[in-house]
Amino acid sequence: MVKKIQIAIDGPAGAGKSTIAKIVAENLGYTYIDTGAMYRAVTYKALNQNIELSDADSLEAMLLKTNIVLKPSSKGQLVFVDGEDVTQLIRSNEVTANVSQVAAHANIREILVAKQQQLAANGGIVMDGRDIATHVLKDAELKIFMSASVEERAKRRFIDNEKRGIPSTIEKLKEEIALRDKLDSEREASPLIQAEDAIYLDTTALSIEEAANEILTLAKQKVE
Ligand code: C5P
Repeated sequence: MVKKIQIAIDGPAGAGKSTIAKIVAENLGYTYIDTGAMYRAVTYKALNQNIELSDADSLEAMLLKTNIVLKPSSKGQLVFVDGEDVTQLIRSNEVTANVSQVAAHANIREILVAKQQQLAANGGIVMDGRDIATHVLKDAELKIFMSASVEERAKRRFIDNEKRGIPSTIEKLKEEIALRDKLDSEREASPLIQAEDAIYLDTTALSIEEAANEILTLAKQKVE
């Protein structure tokens, strides 16, 4: 039987992680898990319940009573919070602007990381996020750190937002991406950082297919 490995993909916002991870997972017949969606789901519910986002204890109390389900589907990963399909709602500008504050709380991360580790336990997984290689799946057979220039990432987010009907401008997206990079990289709990054993993949000048093929080639070497 072919070995089913764990593939960890980390990197900043807009580097192409989710699009590329999805293709890699489909190609290998693996499950794709977008961990950012979990932090977004917590942020979405906290905003709805008017919970102070700097209050780690209240957020934890809320999270312990929350059911977050990630469901792979042919349209990509669906996200449910307490039975409600929030797949689109967690992509709003409001959630995006606030998610890094929620993700900075160590207690919130601990709960979500345990869930992520459970989901990946049987291998055959492509998981993307910020701390997958450094914390969640430290033993992943393949670790990728994906990045691209801020300009390129803003451009990609702009096209993405247009498709989703979310209003934005490239200038505003550049600012938001740079701020999120800063918050995610400078936080104390599991900051965004390249793992020592991760392979750096700059996608600025690569097409989606080229980036996916690079990872697939590396993955195939690992399962041989
Ligand atoms: O990947 P995405 O942009 O949806 O992630 C949203 C936010 O969730 C990130 O900016 C980061 O603050 C947080 N996140 C994280 N750790 C992960 C995945 C996402 O802190 N593994």
